Amino acid sequence: MSDRLDELRRRHANAEAGGGEARRERQHAEGKLSARERIDLLLDEGTFVETDKLVRHRCNDFGMAEQVIDGDGFVTGYGLIHGRTAYVFAQDFTVFGGSLSETNAKKIVKIMDLALKTGAPVIGLNDSGGARIQEGVLSLAGYADIFLRNTLGSGVVPQISAIMGPCAGGAVYSPALTDFTFMVDGSSYMFITGPDVIKTVTHEDVTKEQLGGAVTHNTTSGVAHFLAHGDAECLQMIRELLSYLPQNNRDEGPRHASTDPIDREDAALDSVVPQASNLPYNIKDVIRRVVDDGKFFEVQERWARNIVIGFARMDGRTVGIVANQPEHLAGCLDIDSSIKGARFVRFCDAFNIPILTFEDVPGFLPGTAQEFGGIIRHGAKLLYAYAEATVPKITVITRKAYGGAYCVMGSKHLRCDVNLAWPTAEIAVMGAEGAVNVLYRSLPEADRRTKTQELQERFANPFVAAEHGFIDDVIEPHQTRPLVIRALRMLATKVDTMPRKKHGNIPL
Ligand code: HXC
Repeated sequence: MSDRLDELRRRHANAEAGGGEARRERQHAEGKLSARERIDLLLDEGTFVETDKLVRHRCNDFGMAEQVIDGDGFVTGYGLIHGRTAYVFAQDFTVFGGSLSETNAKKIVKIMDLALKTGAPVIGLNDSGGARIQEGVLSLAGYADIFLRNTLGSGVVPQISAIMGPCAGGAVYSPALTDFTFMVDGSSYMFITGPDVIKTVTHEDVTKEQLGGAVTHNTTSGVAHFLAHGDAECLQMIRELLSYLPQNNRDEGPRHASTDPIDREDAALDSVVPQASNLPYNIKDVIRRVVDDGKFFEVQERWARNIVIGFARMDGRTVGIVANQPEHLAGCLDIDSSIKGARFVRFCDAFNIPILTFEDVPGFLPGTAQEFGGIIRHGAKLLYAYAEATVPKITVITRKAYGGAYCVMGSKHLRCDVNLAWPTAEIAVMGAEGAVNVLYRSLPEADRRTKTQELQERFANPFVAAEHGFIDDVIEPHQTRPLVIRALRMLATKVDTMPRKKHGNIPL
């Protein structure tokens, strides 16, 4: 017995030592924490239960038989975040560069299967040189096994990826399949092919950071959702995100006590929309004034800024916010903002999170770049997402709701439950000047001005839509919070369905 105990302790110590002191120091010198330090910061203190600490690789080639580290370089297990179960895996870069082997892939698969069966989120902390070269196709098989679970688990449990070091080649597709990707600025990168291959093939000079760093993926590509300064901030942000999310697609989601009164009115909202309808304002000011305690957890805040998405609480429950941002591109919808909005709406719908839309949209962005880039099929994604969503849907039109964008952004016609408009709302096929250019372009200037005025009076208001019941009510802006909360309470028992089908065919 005591021999066995000694062996067990030796093996545990071997697993905990990972690739050794020197490699861990190198990790620290690069500003990165070790896999175990990361897990400790992510989970509630003392709650981590490790799985498969004794797993070893099975490769005997290339001198691998002499290099056996218990646990095989990935730390896997489960613990609590804000008192709720979460599964976690962390790649340990000090062990064969955090590379994925046949056996450590199985460790990930095991916790993903458990997560699916028990209904709890999976968080992957990525820091890896990719497929373990010595194991060849066995490693690739491990990736594919994980991709399958990412896909089967999509919409069942929240899946979160943090990129905290290298993540390159096909390995990027596991994070890409998950719901939210965090990147640590300055120490993480993601790309399919690195700078050297790019130089050979296209003769472009680009650094790793420019190609796939946290700033690039948070501002340009939209691959990442969050940018963190340092590992500790990244792990803290993941904890905060999880505080808004349900454990799975059958869970009601967390309820947070709030001291913010449900009937709080906010007079500042009455003057937030400028007099001149072409002047910008910051829609985030509106969001913060309406939600509990002014707290808005924004998602993808640096990319496609003409649409704002994120989580907040109302009446203590999570809501997903989608809002046009008049401060960027006048709030027009374009390719990136359509994709950003659509994916978020689908996440909320999959996880029973009501969607609150603030609408001020002059239309889709004109231009050859947009048309050639496929705005038709990308814009259709947002339309599709809103139409198929069966969660409670509430839309507040603050100003413009023009053209196709009126239909798309949570209109009554797409099964939205409660549609409200502020008196400043303008619901029309297009702006009055644009309409005169189409209908009365040959009239003299003075007559055109009269016609503009006429069209402005006829359409630049919310009343025609309200007369038709497309808007349930025109409300005074300061009443927005109490009325949205009443609507959310009324909709708490909402049940809506989809026609029987295997799955739809969202325009991808
Ligand atoms: C085995 C690896 C490894 C790998 C790194 N190491 N990558 N071992 N398989 N894929 C080992 C190194 O030999 C080294 O061991 C230690 O990890 C640290 O690596 P360094 O190169 O010293 O670190 P650094 O200078 O920081 O460079 C990191 C790196 C580089 C950029 C990630 O290691 C690298 O280019 N690795 C190979 C990347 C790659 O091509 N992977 C396959 C991609 S294809 P010692 O003993 O010296 O400490 C892929 C397909 C996925 O992943 C398929 C999914 C469909």
